[in-house]
Amino acid sequence: MYDYQRITETALAEYLPTKECRERKLIEAMEYSLSAGGKRVRPRLVFEFNNLCRGTVESAKPFACAVEMIHTYSLIHDDLPCMDDDDLRRGKPSNHKVFGEDIALLAGDALLTLAFEVMTDKKAVMAAGEKACRRGVNLLAHYAGAKGMIGGQVIDLISENTNAPVEVLREMDFKKTACLIKAACELGAVSAGAGEQQIKAASQYGECIGLAFQIKDDILDVISTDEELGKPVGSDSDNNKSTYVSLLGVGECGRLVRMLTDKAVEALELFCGDTSVLKKFAYELAERTK
Ligand code: IPE
Ligand code: IPE
Ligand code: MG
Ligand code: MG
Ligand code: MG
Repeated sequence: MYDYQRITETALAEYLPTKECRERKLIEAMEYSLSAGGKRVRPRLVFEFNNLCRGTVESAKPFACAVEMIHTYSLIHDDLPCMDDDDLRRGKPSNHKVFGEDIALLAGDALLTLAFEVMTDKKAVMAAGEKACRRGVNLLAHYAGAKGMIGGQVIDLISENTNAPVEVLREMDFKKTACLIKAACELGAVSAGAGEQQIKAASQYGECIGLAFQIKDDILDVISTDEELGKPVGSDSDNNKSTYVSLLGVGECGRLVRMLTDKAVEALELFCGDTSVLKKFAYELAERTK
């Protein structure tokens, strides 16, 4: 069995530009957030689906790192004073608290563009093939963009101080969080050269665990601690956010998370290979404490 966590950490460090340059501060800011030790859920999903679809580690690696770079950029921007205004992230002061808002903004931008650079470099194309790289870039750009993560972040911001109804919350969570998780699952299958039915099943699994992931995140914002989460609890109520938890309460949200997780696991039935790891992972995410 591969140690995907270790492979991810090493590869992320290798992909960073060198610091011997005038813009050293920017590279340090990128490295600060990227190496701060997130859970690496999205790269893990890329590797697991790639493995299930009989791909190689080398074909999955650039895609896994790209989605983690985009996720990390989204967190740096999410913490900025003009957004959630949070001072703690991954157990450390938020990027803008250390490097200033200007550099934090640009470090996020640079992680976003680096993601597409690594997915299209020579090594990536050699390992995954021209076709898979093109498709991977296209789907990741879509899920991270105006109709995906960024669109969801906008719905989140304009829903502050409102009692957003459940259909708005669903669209918001789908876009701001499920889209990147869905992208990770699809990227795993695509990097392995999987067929359309397999890509679709990976996508359905990702969509369900992605929705569950954000609802669980909102639950933890209410019931956890700063120490455990590595980010400030109570941030959602401080910002008068509209969330599933503010609408339905913690108990009902717990039931929703379990329901969505069951649905995700059902989508795995399409695969002939051993899906036990992805099944277990879905339940671990539903039960996570951070
Ligand atoms: C936090 O994501 C933001 C959401 C989309 C809910 P993670 O919980 O995956 O954060 P890290 O990567 O472990 O820090
Ligand atoms: C953020 O949702 C989702 C992103 C796209 C970054 P949150 O604002 O709830 O994420 P946390 O709780 O700050 O990690
Ligand atoms: Mg936010
Ligand atoms: Mg936030
Ligand atoms: Mg949150």
